[in-house]
Amino acid sequence: MFKRYYPYYAAAFVAALMMIVMSVDIRSAVANPSAQATTQTIRELADKNNFHFGAAVYTTHLDHPEHVETLSREFNMLTPENEAKFCEIQPKRGQFYFGKLDRLVDFATQHDMVVHGHTLVWHQCMPNWLATAKFDREEAIKVLRQHIYTLVGRYKGIIPIWDVVNEAIADDNSGLRDTPWKQMIGDDYIEMAFRFAHEADPDALLFYNDYSAEGINAKSDTIYDMVKDFVDRGVPINGVGLQSHFTVGSINTESIAKNIARLGELGLQVQITEMDDRYPGDGTDKIYQKQAGDYRRVLETCLDYSNCTAFITWGVSDKYTWLRDANLGFFENPKVNPLLFDDKYQPKPAYYAVLDILSRRAGEAPVLTDEEVKAMRGARPVTSGG
Ligand code: XIL
Repeated sequence: MFKRYYPYYAAAFVAALMMIVMSVDIRSAVANPSAQATTQTIRELADKNNFHFGAAVYTTHLDHPEHVETLSREFNMLTPENEAKFCEIQPKRGQFYFGKLDRLVDFATQHDMVVHGHTLVWHQCMPNWLATAKFDREEAIKVLRQHIYTLVGRYKGIIPIWDVVNEAIADDNSGLRDTPWKQMIGDDYIEMAFRFAHEADPDALLFYNDYSAEGINAKSDTIYDMVKDFVDRGVPINGVGLQSHFTVGSINTESIAKNIARLGELGLQVQITEMDDRYPGDGTDKIYQKQAGDYRRVLETCLDYSNCTAFITWGVSDKYTWLRDANLGFFENPKVNPLLFDDKYQPKPAYYAVLDILSRRAGEAPVLTDEEVKAMRGARPVTSGG
């Protein structure tokens, strides 16, 4: 069913031809005149940088030709947005459902994209039977082990990276988040999950993933202490995912750089796993310029460190961003445009900002003029957070 990572030469040839045709189209619709000369995609330039540039995808997105076309043209990695989460995989105890995830994995294989698996253990998307369970420690460990063995084992050698545990640190600086897993098993459920994942696929890269911990702050300090302890004690962990759900103009890339560097000193990788860049109210040209500057500087910061190995946006087109979801509540904005492509799959200023830094880092011609870059970079002050 799955091919590993063998290149699909015939498909690649056809794709290359398509890309040449498409790139002419796309570039003619561009707001940045100086960008029109380029004919390369993010994906081609990411490849030249030996770098993974990904997007989160829903299975239903694969029913839309323009989504499929943009995804396969521009990205060399994908993250299942929901399909690998516990409630999707094991909705009833012992009954595993892989249909949707298989579809995404097959798609990735056909288009020679790497899958970033997300996620094995999370306090959200827990099926009812588990969220309300009162298992004793041994029983809960059994459930955790079986879930991880079954899911990671099925995609052994096919999904090479997993977010093993997601969002396990509390926001109020109190240590571990209080979750059903913590209540049933105890604090060591996290390292157990890593050990089970490693047993299921010793070659997979295993990540801890969280939000609001991109730069140096109390939460990222707690994460640092936890993963340092794991490294010291030989718990199998390979990296930390920085979700990067940012707000336009509030990103401190110097602080993010320090965090990436200190994790690197532990021998850990970092990936920007869920980047989007929101704002309240309506988007304006000024906001899209600032947003472009944000994307550029976060990507540039990642590229500055050899242990920062991927940059993933939480979606392809603004049309399907989770941030428009009315059920989200806390920062939902039905009009927000937080990604690289607009509702009509046209590239936004942030797209060219990304292309430009990838092109320069690959030693190729700039896509934007230095003036255009300067305008983006200086467009917003560096403030707190990350
Ligand atoms: C989100 C999805 O995008 C939504 O479709 C879903 O309804 C809720 O989850 N941090 C994470 C992701 O780690 O799994 C979340 O994804 C976004 C925040």
